[in-house]
Amino acid sequence: MEILISPSILASDFSKLGEESQRMEQAGADWLHIDVMDGHFVPNITLGAPIVKSLRKRSELVFDVHLMISEPIRYVEDFAKAGADIITFHIECDNDTDEVIDKIHSLGCKAGIALKPATPAQAVLPYLEKLDMVLVMTVEPGFGGQSFMPDMMLKLKEIREECKVRNLDINLQVDGGIAKKTVGVVARNGANVLVAGSAVFGSDDPKATISMLRDSAKLNFY
Ligand code: DX5
Ligand code: ZN
Repeated sequence: MEILISPSILASDFSKLGEESQRMEQAGADWLHIDVMDGHFVPNITLGAPIVKSLRKRSELVFDVHLMISEPIRYVEDFAKAGADIITFHIECDNDTDEVIDKIHSLGCKAGIALKPATPAQAVLPYLEKLDMVLVMTVEPGFGGQSFMPDMMLKLKEIREECKVRNLDINLQVDGGIAKKTVGVVARNGANVLVAGSAVFGSDDPKATISMLRDSAKLNFY
């Protein structure tokens, strides 16, 4: 499977998001991971659709929007219109899962489901056929710069194995604490889309870091 690197703008300088996204484009990022938090589903608040819309004018990257919000059904249209390419929402949110997936697809976007660390793989299995991506959180959602949770590897592998059994080519994304030390183990367990915030934005040489993550994931992939 193709290995894709999606730097998380949560770790960027919010006073110059346009330049920051261009910096990632030049560094060879495949996607741009945009973390949306509502202060309700998670304790933090980040940004909304108007910022995504402004950013869309400055970036050619695939916009990988991660909604950490209680009611995605109310906002997916705004994010789709703002230029999101992939919209991922949490299965633990307050809305009906099928309804949110269908709405995202009806807006012409790809749909992903994210799982918090406490949510088992089984929760997402009934939806696999309808999904473009599954996001296995490797930290508790809400903040950047947290420590990677190795316990999530079994869940990751279980989902990748189930995709294989059903002959599904779904993107499997990991998010939280992805860096040089952890990229090998996530790739070995089936992740092909790697979100990295602090590791990439905090690097002196983001281009080298992105290449290192991609090469190491390719070498270790499931
Ligand atoms: C956490 C966010 C992540 C975060 C990852 O809730 O979903 O995307 O930015 O940051 P790092 O890579 O620094 O752990
Ligand atoms: Zn995220």
